[in-house]
Amino acid sequence: MTSNDSSVDTLVRGGTVVDGTGAEGEPADVAIRGDRVVAVAAPGTLDAAGAETVVDAAGRIVAPGFIDVHTHDDRAALATPDMTPKVCQGVTSVVVGNCGVSLAPLRLNGPPPPPLNLLGERDDFRFDTVADYVGAVEEADPAANLAILIGHSTLRVGTMADTDRKADAREIDRMRALLAEGLAAGAVGFSTGLFYRPNAAADMDEVVALAEVVGDAGGIYTTHMRDEHDGVLDSLAETFETGRRARVPVLISHHKCASPRNWGRSRETLPAIETACRHQRVALDAYPYAAGSTVLDPDMVEEEIRILVTWSKAVPEAAGRNLADLAQEWGCSQQAAAERLDPAGAIYFSMDEDDVRRILAYPRTMIGSDGLPHDEHPHPRLWGTFPRVIGHYGRDEGLFPLELAVHKMTGLPAETFGLTGRGVVREGAYADLVVFDPETILDRATFEEPLQVPAGIDRVFVNGVQVWLDGAATGARGGRVLARADGGA
Ligand code: ZN
Ligand code: CU
Repeated sequence: MTSNDSSVDTLVRGGTVVDGTGAEGEPADVAIRGDRVVAVAAPGTLDAAGAETVVDAAGRIVAPGFIDVHTHDDRAALATPDMTPKVCQGVTSVVVGNCGVSLAPLRLNGPPPPPLNLLGERDDFRFDTVADYVGAVEEADPAANLAILIGHSTLRVGTMADTDRKADAREIDRMRALLAEGLAAGAVGFSTGLFYRPNAAADMDEVVALAEVVGDAGGIYTTHMRDEHDGVLDSLAETFETGRRARVPVLISHHKCASPRNWGRSRETLPAIETACRHQRVALDAYPYAAGSTVLDPDMVEEEIRILVTWSKAVPEAAGRNLADLAQEWGCSQQAAAERLDPAGAIYFSMDEDDVRRILAYPRTMIGSDGLPHDEHPHPRLWGTFPRVIGHYGRDEGLFPLELAVHKMTGLPAETFGLTGRGVVREGAYADLVVFDPETILDRATFEEPLQVPAGIDRVFVNGVQVWLDGAATGARGGRVLARADGGA
């Protein structure tokens, strides 16, 4: 061995390693060379003299970088490659293309229909193939890693002249071919947003015909289900059956029981998920807030819940205002106010805090922010999700121990998405790491002031590159496009 081989770039010394598997934290030093963790050893046993940089992590947790399994960062990775809202939370990998909407593969000649407009404008949809998008990501050199899902709405809008009907055989063949191309180019799976108009006319046969391609390639199928309100149990059943027929693992996105009349029904949905897990692979994610956010659709307006406007093309100054206040000022119904704001986005306070807690605490639940990076006044989940799960729900509310909170955002998602060498701190793993203070870690973003860097995150490394230090981006970037493990499920 030459001296060069045995030297390390960074030695993180004196911290407690929470390794992402759910195992109890242990005092250990961690050595990084290049893009890998090369040693995890008892405190003081690694040679500090040979390290280029020594980081004092006394009193700190050293954990795998967090994996945000539910994002809409497809364009953010290109437009704002520092990805500050993510890395400031300790997130080192994001899964893009959720809820049926991905930036690729699609070239648009007109305005993107909602909810595709959550990702960008017409000219942003300029990738005929996923391979072209992967090329653009590599060129942009984002700070965090990306795992790519291909959205069903994106495929339908690109393939069908009219998305208000089922796809015919030719259109299905075309979508299958696009999916196969995308999976070959490195996409990890396929998503639907059956709740949304461009996707809603697709029946189970259409989804199965596409999800089969994903199952064969060893990918995953994620779904914003058709109904998260009164019909949530039917939608769960549809999701399970789709997974069984297509022989593909399924992931229920941002699981919730929405509308006050459905509050408390996680007591029914979680046992249904647990039962399905006996027969097939089922995963789920959630964000740590009792409010959701998406486009502002007049049909989604419920008078009994608070609705906060996040952006509006028609009335830009409405961002950050309550829909009820606007309706009162304008002397109209909330539904009419929503029509006047269109196209627009909103936060819906549609969930029950006890459901949120029950779902977060459920052992199979992973953490996904569902943050909307282009909103004028975004839901605080964009900047706060991960420190909130650890600091607020874990430490302050005692919902789960630190090791389980970390597992939900590291080892569990890496396993679910087949991201080999991620989500764990061990010798040979990629050096995606976060160093944080377990006493002070906390979200600071609120519904009123959503653009806030969280507290307690000292350092973040992505593939061995330090991208975040003491409250600021370093300017260095180390993200990559992540392919699923060879062989698949
Ligand atoms: Zn969704
Ligand atoms: Cu989403």
